[in-house]
Amino acid sequence: MKILVIGSGGREHALCYSFAKSQRVSKIFCASGNAGIGEIAELVAIKPEDINALAVFAVENEIELTFVGGETPLALGIVDEFETCGLKIIGAGKRAAQLESSKSFAKDFMARHGIPTAKFATANSAENAAAILKSGKFGDENAPVVIKADGLAAGKGVIVAKNRSEAIEGIKSLSETVGTQAAETIVLEECLLGREVSLIMFCDGKNFAPMPPARDHKRIGEGDTGPNTGGMGVITDSALLSADELEQIVETIVKPTLKGAESDGFPFSGILFLGLMMTPDGAKVLEYNVRFGDPETQAILVRLETDLVDICEAIHTQSLDKLLIDWKEGSSTCVVLATEGYPQNARTGDRIDGLENVLKHDEIVVFHAGTANNEAGEFITAGGRVLGITATARNLNGAIHRAYKAVNEIEWRGMQYRRDIGK
Ligand code: AMP
Ligand code: GLY
Repeated sequence: MKILVIGSGGREHALCYSFAKSQRVSKIFCASGNAGIGEIAELVAIKPEDINALAVFAVENEIELTFVGGETPLALGIVDEFETCGLKIIGAGKRAAQLESSKSFAKDFMARHGIPTAKFATANSAENAAAILKSGKFGDENAPVVIKADGLAAGKGVIVAKNRSEAIEGIKSLSETVGTQAAETIVLEECLLGREVSLIMFCDGKNFAPMPPARDHKRIGEGDTGPNTGGMGVITDSALLSADELEQIVETIVKPTLKGAESDGFPFSGILFLGLMMTPDGAKVLEYNVRFGDPETQAILVRLETDLVDICEAIHTQSLDKLLIDWKEGSSTCVVLATEGYPQNARTGDRIDGLENVLKHDEIVVFHAGTANNEAGEFITAGGRVLGITATARNLNGAIHRAYKAVNEIEWRGMQYRRDIGK
């Protein structure tokens, strides 16, 4: 079977790695990939947003299955377009993708279907947002509040403000950081307290199959300090959610979400990612994503034992309920290695040393994100997040230990990473 993976990050490397393990896959293409992906897939120089060119490529190359990594092509309607062309593709359709591409759409959806989430208000201008805050709807001037740009903002559209004056500053700066279009509508939210957990699931429009729960580390600095990033590291471990918590999430969030999507006319098929806060009042949804997380995917897919092609077929034939999906027991840890200056101004073009030494380590997979090859064929840095050093082990401490031992082998000028992933 010929597969096309769309995207170029660590998530897409992990998807290509999983497809490469399948006996059923004869060839993998990746548009547009990175240097690490290039070792297991043929790179195709088409941007993920260029949906027409991708569809033409898939037809001409007789691609039998396409898997979409990121949110942008989904929001642009790649799945609808491919299906119109008779091509098999895994991902959310354009309407379902609004659960991620518009935070106000997602909040209205949750309110309509009784899905637990933070109290919210929607504003159509910065002035309107400031007036809502001053009305006291989110508490007095000392109360924390969360400000969100409505549109896709690559992780930069959320400000958790400690008090009202910080919130008002945040509202003013929002359109500068994420662009006027993404910040045209602003969502204000009550600030929730609790543990954060990500629960990602395969969905086929009727059935769902949750993956091991994961925890991202979004801030650049140790101890969760500094600006938000795309994610600096992830752990997966069953202890992140107790059996009771998982059941509560399924009953109060997963089932109502899938039922709501169906009754609103967009049965959810593809990957659904719940960003959850475990509050004293139970689990609440912070956000929906309609795709795999990055770096969550790295830490999750290293534990997948079932053939990913079989899962994709079950999604396609709406028979996920008949497939038993196996996960490697234990835990995993992914430590992201980033360049100097990330997330503001990432320095690139430095040679990455020590990758060959990692091959000697057991139960380690290195996923590439922003990498390229120089003229000598060596790996160089080409983006903010560069590598995801991913380890599995029987327990979390073992996985953390293994991951950091491998991290010690790797070096380049200005390399930065968090030393507290999972701790
Ligand atoms: P989002 O992209 O909506 O998940 O927001 C990014 C991050 O902001 C989340 O992972 C949380 O850490 C934080 N966040 C978002 N919404 C809230 C909220 N209502 N209360 C507290 N923290 C939040
Ligand atoms: N790591 C967070 C995300 O992919 O949205």
